[in-house]
Amino acid sequence: MCGIVGYVGNKQVVPVLLDGLRKLEYRGYDSAGIAVVDEHHNLKIRRAEGKLRNLEEAIRLQPIDGTYGIGHTRWATHGRPTEENAHPHRDCTGRVVVVHNGIIENYLQLKEQLRRSDHRFVTETDTEVIAHLIEEKLRRTDSLEKAVRESVKELRGIFALSIISSDEPDTIIAVRQGPPVVIGLGDGEHFVASDIPPILQHTRDVFFLGDGEIAVLTRDAVRVTDFDGNPVRPVHQRITWDPIMAEKGGFKHFMLKEIYEQPRAVRDTVQGRISLDTGRVYLDPMNITEGEFRRFDRVMIAACGTSWHAGLAGKYMIEQLARVPVEVDYSSEFRYRNPVLDERTLLIVISQSGETADTIAALREAKERDARVLAICNVQGSMITREADGTILTHAGPEIGVASTKAFTAQMVALYLFALYLGQLRGIISSDEARRHAQQLAELPVKIEHLLSDTDRVEELAKEFFRATDFLYLGRGINFPIALEGALKLKEISYIHAEGYPAGEMKHGPNALIDERLPVVVINTREQGNRASELRYEKTHSNIVEVKAREGIVISVLTEGDEMSSKVSDHVIEIPAASDLLSPILAIIPLQLLAYHIAVRRGCDVDQPRNLAKSVTVE
Ligand code: G6P
Repeated sequence: MCGIVGYVGNKQVVPVLLDGLRKLEYRGYDSAGIAVVDEHHNLKIRRAEGKLRNLEEAIRLQPIDGTYGIGHTRWATHGRPTEENAHPHRDCTGRVVVVHNGIIENYLQLKEQLRRSDHRFVTETDTEVIAHLIEEKLRRTDSLEKAVRESVKELRGIFALSIISSDEPDTIIAVRQGPPVVIGLGDGEHFVASDIPPILQHTRDVFFLGDGEIAVLTRDAVRVTDFDGNPVRPVHQRITWDPIMAEKGGFKHFMLKEIYEQPRAVRDTVQGRISLDTGRVYLDPMNITEGEFRRFDRVMIAACGTSWHAGLAGKYMIEQLARVPVEVDYSSEFRYRNPVLDERTLLIVISQSGETADTIAALREAKERDARVLAICNVQGSMITREADGTILTHAGPEIGVASTKAFTAQMVALYLFALYLGQLRGIISSDEARRHAQQLAELPVKIEHLLSDTDRVEELAKEFFRATDFLYLGRGINFPIALEGALKLKEISYIHAEGYPAGEMKHGPNALIDERLPVVVINTREQGNRASELRYEKTHSNIVEVKAREGIVISVLTEGDEMSSKVSDHVIEIPAASDLLSPILAIIPLQLLAYHIAVRRGCDVDQPRNLAKSVTVE
């Protein structure tokens, strides 16, 4: 939800800002803008409606330069996505400019107050009031930092800000109250951004600003205080991600590249965490003891979007391997149902970004009610990792495509590892079983590589079905979350209406939808010799037959060599054999690719689907 970038140093600022915005475009792409101050202290702004390339064109036609500045890519909340409403926004004097990610709840009230002091507003945004509020404070002080500090105390809502003034050369002020703000520490140069990728090619030394903190960046120093001006010592970290990871690397889209990165994402998430000799799982040090893990009598999971689907798959894993009851909630619902939690409840929050507002709110709610919180997260240092009692990091690397792919499979791997850990601690899993699981996990990346080595079948299916108007996805047991995720991928990026359903629920409604035009994707994998899996397989096989009896078109995702379901399906996608709990990690991959190829054929913007943003930092 909106991306912010800022730079102060000796380089030409415009290319740094534009490159940074390119890496943040996944956060919003309604409009974009930059503000820079040149050597004569002239503040110049360029803005454009639509994608970043429009802004680049505007700058090409009217070039600007300078050595410090800020930029923004917008996901509209208040005010239509026009050039006028594009950030940066300025005050009446044109000397103070602000970029903002978040929502100012009391902006109408502030606007009214400021109007009474002769401030004139030219946009429909909530952000513009911030610039005017700072200007108002600057009437009584000549310190920008002080004016910002006084202003933010009057703002209600959530906000990440970057502010510059032509009166304070070579200075950027960054503020965080909610959405993420990362500060990059270079040599004679400093960076501010909403996420790590824009900073990565310049420096790997960063810190995340905390909530209620302000950073003052100059060429030579970064000073952090709280909103009252008390000094804060930030926790620096060195990012291990390779800058190349945040580039497309020859792929047409980030999403495709990220689908192909899954063998590595899975391998890196497993690596060093389980012993093949003993099957023992090693979690990173955390503030939850083994004794506590043994005593939890309930696990709750809260997440949004794709992470929620991973959570649903995690429920099957944890209940099966550790025999603890698990409830899964949308983070946005969790707080509104007065959940029953106590110190014997473990809440697992799952988030790729670690910055999803609803998931952060769920985490805080649980902590207030004495539950312990474990995070499964892809971004070290993000808000969720800072506030949780412990974190299992998914080592998927930066994920840029708005539709989550590699983070999803890495989340399922992390949940599997955790289920094994809990199962062993609670004496449910023997060491022989644990070794078997370790072996299966170790084989997973190779199986994914095998899957990805031949995708012709999926491409053919995309060619055949890209004009369909509706899709149904069915799965039973742990394949049900995969049906949901397969449907979500398709609707997110191709705008085709798609629904995921538990296969057994067909008779309670969706059967009425079936006709000769409806493609029905059925995930029906099987683990030979596993009675529960065989039973589920047979039941779902019957569902396939029922769809066929009603003239539906069945596309089945089956385990290699499965003849029974293959015979009754119109189309088959095979995946390598794997255990019941791990096969979903394979089954989702052809469905990601199916959605991708359909979206490409429909001419959709795969990496930046309409109306969506990668990181939803507002509720
Ligand atoms: C947005 C993204 C999804 C993501 C969801 C949760 O909707 O488009 O891809 O699954 O947010 O994000 P999180 O970062 O918390 O996993």
